[in-house]
Amino acid sequence: MSSHPKARRMTLAMGAVAIGAAVLALHGQATAEADADPLGEKTGGKGTVFATGRQAFSFPLAHLDDKEHTRFAIGNSFFKRNWVEAPASTTARDGLGPHFIARSCGACHDMDGRGEPPDWRKTIGPEPDNTVALLIRLSVPGAADLHAGVRPEPVYGDQFNNAAVQGVKPEGHVEIRSKPIHGRFADGTRYTLHKPEYRLTQLGYGPMAKDVMISPRIAPQVIGLGLIEAIPESEILANAREQAAMPGPIKGQPNRVWDAFAQKEVVGRFGWKANTGTVAHQSAGAFNGDMGITTSVFWREACTEAQKDCLAAPHGGGRRTGRDGLMPSGQATATEPEIDDETLGHVIFYTATLAPPARRKPDDPQVLRGQALFHQAQCAVCHRPSYTTGDPPFPQFSTGKVAGQRIWPYSDFLLHDMGQDLADGRPDFQANGRQWKTPPLWGIGLFRDVNGHQRLLHDGRANGVLEAVLWHGGEAQSSRDMVRRMSRQDREALVKFVESL
Ligand code: HEC
Ligand code: HEC
Repeated sequence: MSSHPKARRMTLAMGAVAIGAAVLALHGQATAEADADPLGEKTGGKGTVFATGRQAFSFPLAHLDDKEHTRFAIGNSFFKRNWVEAPASTTARDGLGPHFIARSCGACHDMDGRGEPPDWRKTIGPEPDNTVALLIRLSVPGAADLHAGVRPEPVYGDQFNNAAVQGVKPEGHVEIRSKPIHGRFADGTRYTLHKPEYRLTQLGYGPMAKDVMISPRIAPQVIGLGLIEAIPESEILANAREQAAMPGPIKGQPNRVWDAFAQKEVVGRFGWKANTGTVAHQSAGAFNGDMGITTSVFWREACTEAQKDCLAAPHGGGRRTGRDGLMPSGQATATEPEIDDETLGHVIFYTATLAPPARRKPDDPQVLRGQALFHQAQCAVCHRPSYTTGDPPFPQFSTGKVAGQRIWPYSDFLLHDMGQDLADGRPDFQANGRQWKTPPLWGIGLFRDVNGHQRLLHDGRANGVLEAVLWHGGEAQSSRDMVRRMSRQDREALVKFVESL
């Protein structure tokens, strides 16, 4: 991994931006707005859109200007369109692979929403399947590189790529099975959860390390991310301090991760283990890791030394000559990035400015009952309802308009031990093998509209809100047990509340 000197300069310049009177004034406005919106109907402050249906996650923040709309539209087209193998006549979007999982961002983040995991008992083969938004992270135990946060599997790297361009071997197939787990609510009602088990088969480059650790993860919805990015780090750290001071088992911890754009360690907030800190890093990382598209930030194709066919495959960028400070000179594989900085910037802008939709019927009596239960069951300790945003870390990749908004994401952005049944056993930066980040709950009631399913948790194993809660263990076990003791009416009210978010 190497980084772009320009990215570094931008960060330094940002440090000099004054957090002056303008921002304080915005904060004042936001507080006044919060008083006018006590139920958090406007989940994204001024940026909130009032939308339901299949498009609900696909609108830009409501207060973008015309110029920003244009940028959003360009970013959208690069997020949704399919990339093709190099060499191709369409050089603007070639460079897919050599290894990859999907041909576009939108193939996994379907309609900017939640990916759908495959049927259990299905094999994910070498043909990228547009309904399969599951990726498998890989690593082995041992000291991790500061930048990667994990020690990659020596032959397969840090992510399993089931697809490849012509002439290059895919890394293999993913086989999924599931095991039923039966349980009962206190009122006698039975339920069954399905625990998925993963096997990596038909390995293209020989056996994996015996101690390989795998972490399956489903594509999350990508709404409101610029707003999340503008939550001050101090707020996330304050969540951890408050929980540490509380009696009881809930003790969230921040993840600390390397950010290739900021060129420093930051508090993680994206990814199922808070394993990335910014939309920019996550997006450039996705181009590289999920689609095999290089950028000036992640300029090396994700092939390991052992994957000779992958290293030798044609590239979508022009060949670089001479030394330019970006890439080591004289390297056989050094090429121009397959996506240029401007286009990458548009995709990041797009991903950062998708709006969270407004809540539906927040004052419905059943929803209000559910809201009270949500607090009683301590869900709100981890799923913290609201924040006032500060400045975005990279205004050039989002917009200053994300600042000073009262937002309602329902997360503390901290890592929690969620018990053995959810554990993947694979550390990621500071996260251990039992910890997951509290995911934001906004938009969760619209997954059925947008994606036609409601598959929840890091690998989509839960079908609906109640199943997701029944999987909660570890620090959240007493919350789950409280829900198990609830009457059917109360359970339904709790779910109705969560689905109003
Ligand atoms: C193969 C499926 C797949 C593809 C393709 C993909 N993503 Fe993702 N995306 C994921 C998964 C899975 C996660 C969660 C990652 C984790 O937990 O480590 C994620 C997370 C993200 C996040 C963080 C969201 C959050 O709230 O945590 C952003 C931003 C994102 N992706 C942007 C993109 C962009 C931009 C592209 C295209 C360049 C892209 N993704 C392509 C699967 C995919
Ligand atoms: C100790 C912190 C904690 C508490 C308490 C807690 N949660 Fe969670 N919640 C999490 C974490 C962490 C995850 C993600 C786990 C995973 O993906 O494996 C999660 C996931 C979820 C999801 C799935 C979200 C998604 O995007 O897939 C829902 C729904 C949810 N929680 C609702 C609740 C409700 C309702 C309660 C109270 C009964 C509750 N949670 C209590 C930490 C907590």
